[in-house]
Amino acid sequence: MGKLPIDEKIKLTSGQGNWHLFESALLEGRSINVADGPHGVRVYGKAVDAGNFLNQSNLMPATLFPSASAMASTWNKELIENVGKIIGRECRYYQIDVLLGPGINLKRSPLGGRNFEYYSEDPYLTSTIAEAFVKGVQSEHVGACIKHFGLNEQETMRRFVDVKVDERTMHEMYLYPFYKVIKNAQPWMVMSSYNRLNGVYASESSYLLKDILRKRWGYQGVVVSDWGAVQDKVKSLKNGMNIDMPGPSAFESKVKDALQQGTLTERELDESLKPVFDLHKRIQTTQKLKDINFEKHHQRAKSVAEEAIVLLENDGVLPIKNHQTKLGIVGDFAKHPRINGGGSATVRPYKQEIPYDAFKEVFDNIDYAQAYQEEETTDALIAEAVDVAKASDIVLFFTGTTKATETEGQDRPHMMLPVSHLNVFNAMRKINKNIVVILSNGSALDLRSVRPHSRAILETWFLGGAAGKAIVDVVIGAVNPSGRLQETFPYMVEHTPHYPTFPSLETVDYSQDLIMNGYRFYDTHRYEVLYPFGYGLSYATIDYSDIRFVNASDNQSIISVEVTLENHSDIDAYETVQLYVGKNIEYLIKPEKELKAFEKVFVRAKSKAIVTIKVEREAFETYDTRRQQFVVYNGCYTIHVGRHSRAIYATHSVDITDKVTFHPAITFDYPIKFLKLYYPHWYEYIETHYRPLRWHEQEAPIWRILNSYQRHKGIDDVILKQLMKDIKADLDASNK
Ligand code: GLC
Repeated sequence: MGKLPIDEKIKLTSGQGNWHLFESALLEGRSINVADGPHGVRVYGKAVDAGNFLNQSNLMPATLFPSASAMASTWNKELIENVGKIIGRECRYYQIDVLLGPGINLKRSPLGGRNFEYYSEDPYLTSTIAEAFVKGVQSEHVGACIKHFGLNEQETMRRFVDVKVDERTMHEMYLYPFYKVIKNAQPWMVMSSYNRLNGVYASESSYLLKDILRKRWGYQGVVVSDWGAVQDKVKSLKNGMNIDMPGPSAFESKVKDALQQGTLTERELDESLKPVFDLHKRIQTTQKLKDINFEKHHQRAKSVAEEAIVLLENDGVLPIKNHQTKLGIVGDFAKHPRINGGGSATVRPYKQEIPYDAFKEVFDNIDYAQAYQEEETTDALIAEAVDVAKASDIVLFFTGTTKATETEGQDRPHMMLPVSHLNVFNAMRKINKNIVVILSNGSALDLRSVRPHSRAILETWFLGGAAGKAIVDVVIGAVNPSGRLQETFPYMVEHTPHYPTFPSLETVDYSQDLIMNGYRFYDTHRYEVLYPFGYGLSYATIDYSDIRFVNASDNQSIISVEVTLENHSDIDAYETVQLYVGKNIEYLIKPEKELKAFEKVFVRAKSKAIVTIKVEREAFETYDTRRQQFVVYNGCYTIHVGRHSRAIYATHSVDITDKVTFHPAITFDYPIKFLKLYYPHWYEYIETHYRPLRWHEQEAPIWRILNSYQRHKGIDDVILKQLMKDIKADLDASNK
């Protein structure tokens, strides 16, 4: 670095084009190549000018996996680690050094335009799946880039909105996945987000990029900006953002001026380039793969699709065992499947299955009707669909969101299915009650008008290249659906906690999201929902029994839970046992329960399986804003164990008597009531040595009560001073 002329260093602080960085004739070794995205690698066959990098025509083929929503719906850590590994291998085949994914923001409203590209509404599930994915990618000596750091949960005005958030909500929810993945999987890269955080652009926020990321979390990797996110490059370089993407930078002259004027020093420039030099060195040893087995990878994508599909409703019409059944396959999505959301996650699939063709492989009598084209339909198309429905035993109605409504860069205008699709559905159900609805969407839908008239509903998300046989295998029972919802399906958008404010154009307030997001909101406030977080049906009947809570021996885990599962059916099944933790500590704001552990268990037909879930200390943690770290407060907690957030089969109280006692950093200006709450020994001391305090004194400051004693009770000044000194010492000691 020392040998490089300063102009070359300045050049290196930006990308070279969209997908390369650190390209320099003065550097040994090749440039660093990056490529999107979370569902598969998006590589261009030839250099793409900045203008049309979303033009997909000259993309190289790659495995397009089911979307992040689908991956999280598998609740299968090992499977998603393998997905990461496969994408890592395809990166090596195309000599991509860092994959620009996973996206680990949370689903804050079902209307979020990129929810398809994010895992869950819940930070713990997001962290667990993301950690597995990153470990998988990096096991191939290819980097993963966690994005978008941070609090980028709406697409509307994403380059401008200012997100206001309190520290606790930020750490316990929106930064939590970044914190856990950095701690447990060491991603090579972090992408700073477009938006502002508490008034400062994330890509120039020293609070985010230095204080939190570097100092508190000890992150050593590279920070790139989101594409075009840098607003003031000098500030960005000084505040912890290393590479301004894409290149060439619009700020080159400004950086030169700043160096001349001394508002930016060469030392700061070197400091900003250090992690990138480390990455540049690291990638020189990554071996390009000479060949790749796309077919094998496609099969893996199919197994992800099988485990991602969530059976939402089934009155027994599924599985369809009789392959002579006359099937009416209705909906354009059956022939032109919705395989992904729009925008930078796009991939050109090496192989694209077609649901209709997959069904033709199995069923002999199939009629088809297009029924609609995206959002549009006509009377003729509806009439055709009705004719098919009339002639069929069972209708498979393919519907979901359209390209126009679920994509990066905009939020969804509503949660409904397209009106045209509903018109088709309502026309068909009048002459044939046997309708199975097959959904393709990236985030929750309002299904009120569909659910009462469907005999079964399959949530298939966006299944990528494997949008075909996996659906058939679930429909015929070759695969027993095991997907579980990673986000709540509320009845309607009006029930969502952020309905009045999502999306906002200027300022978005995340405060109180601790209890105002997803199931944290619905469960804490006892709202009815259409389908709860963690929900999903199976073809098998699985019972839970003998749920035991055993105090753990090793110091890391507090308690372990043993559950017996019995599969009464003649079909093998996977069951995801879920464990939530709630609190009973007065005045500590927490949702009714939070997901803190889960295990996906194989239960063979007609047999039992016993699963043990260890509950770690961190399951009881709270972010303490005074200590600026996660701590476990003393108190009583409740563990909930069940099939999903609304099907809890056992609860157990756990008393944590840890060192840290929860209380605010009180001072003598606080009401005496706080002394009673958090320092009861002092409160009792005062009452026994002087007199009981009356109700109207509870909100008076501590100093005032003590002084009033001196005046009225003639307390010896020395004793009072000593008492105040002792109380103050106690307060200060626990405020550390
Ligand atoms: C986009 C996205 C980001 C993506 C990048 C490169 O704007 O926000 O996720 O990786 O630009 O395509």
